[in-house]
Amino acid sequence: MGDPSSQQQGLGRISAIFLQTRGRLKWAAYLCSTVFVLQYLMQSAEAEPVLGTSLFRQCRPVALQKNKTEDCCLPEPEREPILFKFEERKKMLVRRPAHELANDVEYVNKYNLAYKRMKELPRDDPRGFLRQWHVHCAFCVEAFLSRYLNGTPTPYPLQLHYSWTFLPWHRMMLYYHERILGSLINDPEFTLPFWNWDNQLDAGAAQMPQMFVPYNPPNPAIDNFYLYAGAIRDQNHYPPRVMTLNFKPLEDKAGIIPTPEETRDANLCMVWNMVVNKVSAQEYLGVKYNTSADFSAVSHPNASAESGGSEILHNTAHEWVGNLNNPAFPDNEDMGVFTYSGRDPLFYSHHGNVDRLWDVWQTLPDGVTVDGTRTRKEFDDVDFLETEFTFFDENKDMVRVKVKDTLSNAKLGIMYQDMSEADSLWINHKPKASKPSFRATQLSSTPDDYPEVVANANNTIGNSPVCFKLHRRAPTKADLKGTQVKHIGELSEGVVMEKVKIPEMMYVRFDVYVDFPSANLDSDMDQSDYVGTFTHLPSGVASMESVTSQISVANEDLYRELNVRFTTGLALRRLGIDDYSTDITVTIVPRFRDNDANKTITFSNLKQEFLFRGHSGYLGFPKFR
Ligand code: C2O
Repeated sequence: MGDPSSQQQGLGRISAIFLQTRGRLKWAAYLCSTVFVLQYLMQSAEAEPVLGTSLFRQCRPVALQKNKTEDCCLPEPEREPILFKFEERKKMLVRRPAHELANDVEYVNKYNLAYKRMKELPRDDPRGFLRQWHVHCAFCVEAFLSRYLNGTPTPYPLQLHYSWTFLPWHRMMLYYHERILGSLINDPEFTLPFWNWDNQLDAGAAQMPQMFVPYNPPNPAIDNFYLYAGAIRDQNHYPPRVMTLNFKPLEDKAGIIPTPEETRDANLCMVWNMVVNKVSAQEYLGVKYNTSADFSAVSHPNASAESGGSEILHNTAHEWVGNLNNPAFPDNEDMGVFTYSGRDPLFYSHHGNVDRLWDVWQTLPDGVTVDGTRTRKEFDDVDFLETEFTFFDENKDMVRVKVKDTLSNAKLGIMYQDMSEADSLWINHKPKASKPSFRATQLSSTPDDYPEVVANANNTIGNSPVCFKLHRRAPTKADLKGTQVKHIGELSEGVVMEKVKIPEMMYVRFDVYVDFPSANLDSDMDQSDYVGTFTHLPSGVASMESVTSQISVANEDLYRELNVRFTTGLALRRLGIDDYSTDITVTIVPRFRDNDANKTITFSNLKQEFLFRGHSGYLGFPKFR
C-alpha cells in the first residue's frame, strides 16, 4: 500500500470525494434556496396581507348609538402616495412619562402650542386635529371595506382592532401624529408624553395625567388649555383618583372607591396577567387578521377575531376616561368609544404607554420553554409582515408603511424612558395563594358537579357568575402543528371561549377564574385562580346589509363575534394541579353595567387549547429589517 500511485489514487479519491461533497453541498444549497424561493412564492400566492389603507377603498360613515353616524372619511392625498423609509437620525428620540413632565413648564407649553396649531388647521388639511381623529375613527371603526378581490369590494369592513394589526397600526398612528405635532412647532425632536398607568411606584403615574386636566391649584406659568378643551371625560376620574384596571362599573357608579392598596394589588395583578402571562404573540398582539374571501362561510365579517392581552388591558383606560354614566353621552364620549377616542389628546398619550408595553413585552423571558429564558417571539407570517397601512405625514403626503417596518421602535428612532423599576413590580408580581383553596375547603364539590359546555349549543353568560366543567388532556405532537416550536414543553396551556357573540353597543367585562367554582363579584383577583379579564368597548357597527347601502346604522341586534382566550398553565401549576388528567372548573364572573343587566352573551364552545403561534409561518424569508 506504500506505492505512490495508490497514494496518488488515495489523494485523488479524497479530492474527488471533496469535490463531490462540495458539489453536493452546492447542489444542496441550490436546492435549499430553490425550496425557500418556492416556499416564498407559494406563501405569497396564498398570502393575504391586510390592506389597511384608504387607497382606492370605499369609505362610509360609521355608526354611533341612537342611530347617529359620524363621517370620518379622509381627504384624498394631493400627491401620489410615497413609500415609507426609515429616517437617519443622529440620536434617538425619547418619549417621557406624563407624570414626570407635569411641571416641566417649557414642555407642557410647547405641547399645548402644538395642539393649538393642529386644532387651527383647516378641515381639509390631513394634519389637522379633526383629521387626526378621523384617521383612528376611519380605520378602527370600520369606515372602509378591507379588500377588493378581482376589482370588486368584498363586504369585509376594515377593522384594525381585535387582531394582530392592533399594535403595529397604533404604533404608526403615534409616529405620524408626533411628527406632525413636532413640525407645527418646528421641533423635529418633539416627543409625545406617555401615560404610565401601569406604574404603581411613582405618585400620580396612574392618575389621569395632570397636564391633560386644569391645574389645581392653577399654575400661571403653564398653559395647557388645548390638552383638555373640548374633550368629553368623566370628571369623577380626574386626579387624585387612581385608575383601577379591574374597573368595576357598578361600584364606580355607586361612588365606591377602592383603597389605594386594593387598587395597587389589582393593577399589578392585571398587568401581570395581560402582559407577562401572554406568552405567545397571539396571546399578546391578537390573532391573525381574518381575510377570508369566503364570507358566506362565516356568520359575521369579523368572525374568529381575537384581541390580545395588550388590547384587552388598554380598553380599561378608554372606559375610565370616557364620560361614563351620563345619559347625555350615551357613547361615553370621547375615550369610551373608539369612534370618538381620537378627539381627546389624552388618547395619544394613552397609546404611548400601550406602545411602550409592547417594547417591554418583547424583552420578557417566555417562561414556557424548558429553561424559560427565551424572549418572546413576534409573528413572522408573511401576511403579518406585508400588511400595509397608510398615514398622512407632516408634509401632507400619504405614506404606505408595512408592518415589517413597525416591529422595532429602535429602528424608528424612538425609545421610551426607562421605567424598569416600576415595570419590575408587575413583571415580578406573584398572586397571593388562593383563598379559599377550592381543593382544601370544598372537597364535597368537584368539577363533575358543574355542567359541561355543549359545543355549538347556546352557552350563555347572563348577569351573574356561571361555572362550567372543563375537560383537560395532555398536549400531543399534533398540538405542535402550525407552531414553530418543536417540543410540547414549549406550548402554553389556555382555555378559549369560541365565537363569543357580543352586542356591538355593549360594554362587556368579565373576569375568569379556574378551579374556583364559587368565584363571584367580590372575589379577590389577586390570587392564583384568577386567569384574566375580557373587555369590549362599543365601536362601529358592521353589517352585511349596511355595506350595500353604504351606511351602517346602529342596531341593538348587531353583534361582533370574537374568540376569547385565557392563559391557564401557570395558574394551574400554582394551584398545585401539575398533571393534565385533572379536570377543572372555569367560572365566568360578568361585570355588566346596570342598564345591561338583562343582556346575555352567548358562545359556541369553551375548550382547552395549547398555543404557541408566536413563531408560525416559515423559516427563511422575509427577515425583519
Ligand atoms: Cu384604536 Cu385605543 O384604540
